[in-house]
Amino acid sequence: MKYYVCNHKANLSKEEYQDLLRSLKDLMSEYEVIICPSSCYLGMDFPFHKMSLGSQDVSKSENGPHTGEVTASQLKSLGVGYTLVGHSERRLELKETSFEFIPKINCLLKNDITPIFCIGESENVQKKEKTRDILRQQITQVYDSLEKEDREKIIIAYEPIWAIGTKVVPSNLEICNVVEDILKFVKDKYGIKPVVLYGGSVNEENISELKKITMLDGFLLGSVSLNKDSLTKILTKDE
Ligand code: 13P
Repeated sequence: MKYYVCNHKANLSKEEYQDLLRSLKDLMSEYEVIICPSSCYLGMDFPFHKMSLGSQDVSKSENGPHTGEVTASQLKSLGVGYTLVGHSERRLELKETSFEFIPKINCLLKNDITPIFCIGESENVQKKEKTRDILRQQITQVYDSLEKEDREKIIIAYEPIWAIGTKVVPSNLEICNVVEDILKFVKDKYGIKPVVLYGGSVNEENISELKKITMLDGFLLGSVSLNKDSLTKILTKDE
């Protein structure tokens, strides 16, 4: 396991965020920990050498007249090293599609920021046993428009929508089957082996079990990353 990405979503006051950062200051973690706070906190002091700053979104445009947007070059100037793209909450709430994801990924890569591309199926899709088809489609819609060397720089985060914020987690076997298919599909179609993370209701109770999935490269954490005690436990637990 390598990456632990903390997606704070639209949570925490400025004081709560600073308090969380303070509590992580002396943490000795062997992992690549990436903190993605609300964008309003990205310019604040980020006092870590061992952790990375991430953002939850980026503009699909370059700097210019785009009111309310934050561009990849602006993120770069703040020290952002990773950015989430295609999170299901943005797909569902803002109706974002590959029409947005492709230019976002291109802008990020131009600025040497690693995109963390989120994919996942709805409960309905899962019940109909169409998960593989939907995930393959989500990958193809974006990867087909990118150059090979750019595809290689993307981290994939598999987040079943029905597991996000629900405390329902797929079994290890279910995750393995899906991740195995993602790896095989991307290898066969694009000739690369992507870094793959799992996200959706990961917490301090289930992390030990989930870590047994050796084909995963890490986790995308949501609500558990807001709680300093739970997060500390997850980031310091032995393999
Ligand atoms: P939860 O861990 O709260 O289920 O959220 C997962 C997620 O959406 C991370 O991006």
